[in-house]
Amino acid sequence: MRYGFFDDKRREYVITRPDTPVPWINYLGTDEFFGIISNTAGGYCAYRDARLRRLTRYRYNNVPSDSGGRYLYLRDDATGEYWAPSWQPVRRDLDAYECRHGLSYTAISSSLGGISAQALYFVPPGETLEVWRLRVTNERAEAAEISAFSLAEFALWDAQDDATNFQRNYSTGEVEVDLSAASGVIYHKTEYRERRDHFAYFACSEPVAGFDTQREAFLGAYRGFDAPLAVQRGTSGDSVAHGWSPVGSHHVRLTLAPGQTREVIFLLGYWENPRDAKFAAPGVINKSLVQPVIDRWLDPAAVEAGFAALQAAADDVLGALQVDTPDDDTNRMVNIWNAYQCLVTFNMSRSMSSYESGIGRGMGFRDSCQDLLGSVQLDPARARDRIRDLAATQFASGGAYHQYQPLTKTGNDAIGSGFNDDPLWLVLGVAAYLRETGDATILNERVPFSDGGEDTLYGHVERSLRYTLDRLGPHGLPLIGRADWNDCLNLNCFSETPGESFQTTENLSGGVAESIFIAGLFTLAAREFAELADHVGRPADASGFRADAEKMAAIVAEHGWDGDWFLRAYDHYGNPVGSAANAEGQVFIEPQGMCVMGGIGVGNGLATRSLASVRERLATPHGIMLVQPAFREYHVELGEISSYPPGYKENGSVFCHTNPWVMIAEAMTGNGDAAYDYYRRINPSAREAISEVHRCEPYVYAQMIAGADAATHGEAKNSWLTGTAAWNFVAITQWILGIRPELDGLRVEPVLPSEWPGFSATRRFRGATYEITVRRGDAPAGQSAAPIYDGASQVTGVTVDGQPIEGTVVPLATPGATIRVEVTIK
Ligand code: BGC
Ligand code: NOJ
Repeated sequence: MRYGFFDDKRREYVITRPDTPVPWINYLGTDEFFGIISNTAGGYCAYRDARLRRLTRYRYNNVPSDSGGRYLYLRDDATGEYWAPSWQPVRRDLDAYECRHGLSYTAISSSLGGISAQALYFVPPGETLEVWRLRVTNERAEAAEISAFSLAEFALWDAQDDATNFQRNYSTGEVEVDLSAASGVIYHKTEYRERRDHFAYFACSEPVAGFDTQREAFLGAYRGFDAPLAVQRGTSGDSVAHGWSPVGSHHVRLTLAPGQTREVIFLLGYWENPRDAKFAAPGVINKSLVQPVIDRWLDPAAVEAGFAALQAAADDVLGALQVDTPDDDTNRMVNIWNAYQCLVTFNMSRSMSSYESGIGRGMGFRDSCQDLLGSVQLDPARARDRIRDLAATQFASGGAYHQYQPLTKTGNDAIGSGFNDDPLWLVLGVAAYLRETGDATILNERVPFSDGGEDTLYGHVERSLRYTLDRLGPHGLPLIGRADWNDCLNLNCFSETPGESFQTTENLSGGVAESIFIAGLFTLAAREFAELADHVGRPADASGFRADAEKMAAIVAEHGWDGDWFLRAYDHYGNPVGSAANAEGQVFIEPQGMCVMGGIGVGNGLATRSLASVRERLATPHGIMLVQPAFREYHVELGEISSYPPGYKENGSVFCHTNPWVMIAEAMTGNGDAAYDYYRRINPSAREAISEVHRCEPYVYAQMIAGADAATHGEAKNSWLTGTAAWNFVAITQWILGIRPELDGLRVEPVLPSEWPGFSATRRFRGATYEITVRRGDAPAGQSAAPIYDGASQVTGVTVDGQPIEGTVVPLATPGATIRVEVTIK
């Protein structure tokens, strides 16, 4: 069953009924001002940091769900009937409803009783404000008197404090209302009197008939957003908030002739004044700096232009890669939605979504490093800045803070460090940046350490690898620390106390438990680093790390192979985890994907055997599960993983992030059919038709899909902010379609499903455009292309502008040029 449809031409998903199984959200903002918005206008916004600079309130896990948002109410002043054009929060049945989620904008349209409305929400590029453009049309034969009310509920900046510290916060709220201009501007200035230099504003383009800034005055006591007293009555309370809960609400009266449309623009924005120019008069905000911004964006022409600029920016970004394959689900994910999700995860890391409260986790070190893999081609300049920020949260040991706050860019001491995989992801991120941009200067940049001192980025990356080598366990495998990629495999954190954090309760010395996953990741990272080292003329480093990678691969083959698959780990007692010898948790997906990606067992049968085990033991029609058999009992020696009921999250769900590793491994071993089959199983667009089962948005990946052990097998959760976005993008574009940046050119080495005759693509790479065509057929006479992995390549020949080349790496084209790349495959 579907709740809407894809409009690929407009790059929108169109939701045709408001009551989706869960709120289906979208993101607003591309630079520093961000928000989430649901298909019924729920959500909130923040400036740079969803915890420390929260502008508006949202109530997670509330009833009705998705409570708090960018609300607009309409009222027929002749009858007193009122409704919300976004359905929520009034939930009055509408005659028509449609929500179009596009790239960084959302438009919700509806009609009731001959009055139609459309609200367009977006953040103009480069601005710290969101536009709500409301258009109301009278489709009746007679004139209509309609009242429009807006509502935004302000958060008192620190979202955590806002949701907990009521004894203080009920007394601190302050606003200013400025009706001096033709329009009405409400300023939210809680704590501006003291240390804050920032305030929020909520402006309206039309003369207002009234306003409210105290929540209770607008809603009425004991009432919810669904039946505000002001709206019911048809008049605002003109309330000025002193403490309690400041809101912004405008009341605009619209007289509409038959067929007439009126437009009202609301702006919800953030502004920071220079500290020495905060006040115009004692206690009064100096508005002289923000006023021109408000004036500008209340102009309909500016809004139109800002919206066009947003779309042009999306065109530009998506222009990095466009593909035309025989499969629509692949095309729309690669060309539109997966790329977009990569940008969103890059911007948000794991901070604000329907499942991430914006409070708990800022930027995750490993998460943000992996997000780079999917976004670097879309926005290399910001990738560069992000790499510096991440590296600056490293310690001189090479270790890293697990998380940092985006506003302050400082590491989070509450969670600290000691996730032994973390630093290795930086190697992958930096290597991806270099392959994409060729910009080796980044390696010479000096970047500080969190604990003092500094080194070049090259040095940071090298220390990341050494961090692993300095922490090897009894088998010579990497020690796991608090956890590796699997945050829930906590082999040194034995917790018997309810509510304790599994990740921070590191109560064992940590000198025994080892991770085969980290071994695979190290092997991959060391090989990538070796390429970089060679590239920048440091052959000794390159050969050193190649040797370390070889050695690690040999140790994995000796101590990390269980007979039919790669082991997962050794626990604190030195017992194997993820072995046929275990009663539960015999096979884990992570080492199967990652060891093969690191090249371990490729060419000697282990890789193909491991992948066969994945197929036999872990694959379901809804994707590949993380572990089987799932844990039915709590294992103190394994940690959080066994705390989840079987089939959920790390305990045996289809943890989507890991699936592309297997797709890549299948592609590396030449199995395009398997790679693509797995790709389709979790492709959200391919799952659209079972939306009643999948339940999450069909346009973006979710972190998990409940596994076969779960009562709700096939149900997705934790959509949007997941490394699944980046890794699926890498799997489909770089490995299945095979368009893979290398340091010295663009490799085109597809491993396609056998049913595909070929595909075409346009790739922007280092300033040039590569028009790529792939088709089945023989090599041009006399040519044979050498595959990187023996026997894996399907490629029979490559020509560039009609001239055959050796191998599958297309040499760099002149910036500005467009070249034609034709690839034949068997
Ligand atoms: C989740 C993990 C997550 C971790 C972060 C756990 O509860 O299952 O997916 O990485 O929390 O703290
Ligand atoms: C989600 C976390 O954000 C990520 O860092 C982790 O690798 C996965 N969960 C698996 O536990």
